[in-house]
Amino acid sequence: MSNNITFHDQSVSLEQREAHNGHKSAVLWFTGLSGSGKSSLAMALQHELFEKNYQVTVLDGDNVRHGLNAGLGFTAEDRIENLRRVSEVSKLFAESGFIALTSFISPYEQERLNARKIVEPLSFYEIYVEVDLAVAEERDPKGLYKKARAGEIKNFTGLDAPYEAPVNPDLLIKNQGQDIEAGVAQLMTFLKEKGIIPN
Ligand code: ADX
Repeated sequence: MSNNITFHDQSVSLEQREAHNGHKSAVLWFTGLSGSGKSSLAMALQHELFEKNYQVTVLDGDNVRHGLNAGLGFTAEDRIENLRRVSEVSKLFAESGFIALTSFISPYEQERLNARKIVEPLSFYEIYVEVDLAVAEERDPKGLYKKARAGEIKNFTGLDAPYEAPVNPDLLIKNQGQDIEAGVAQLMTFLKEKGIIPN
């Protein structure tokens, strides 16, 4: 903990930012197995929102682990720290008026709850991108399941590391047997229902 630090209030309020942007800020916390399609969905949704001139960004596991979280691996301890930092960053974006889309496996219920605790009272929604493990493994877009099965990667989520599926997500996207547009449409409807973006 640092001492002698004073918290400054922002000179522009969130209400002013939201009025300026024409939409509310929020964190959409995507969770799901590697290969579930959460990043593809987040990217497609980002594109749709950007086209409407909304303030939107994606924080993605693979990308953030190249920079901010480059020093972190996949032990439980490192995943917890990864998610804690990302929760704080997503909060900064939400405080700045953005719709922040985060795409991390986030395999632990407790850490997803913690993310919510960090972000609230700003809007936080847990989006569960659900696929069968067999489907994710069959897709294997980065060839990682294959490597994990061959013993080249340890602690791989769904194989030798746990994935605790959300019990009561704010939105469930069944992301097998439907195309990405269907998922984006579901997300757009959700954002309108929650009053984050106008109808
Ligand atoms: S999390 O568990 O801490 O939320 P995060 O979403 O940041 O994970 O990173 C997951 C991505 O890292 C996967 O999509 C995959 O590309 C890669 N990866 C590398 N090693 C592992 C592993 N052991 N388990 C899961 N994903 C891994």
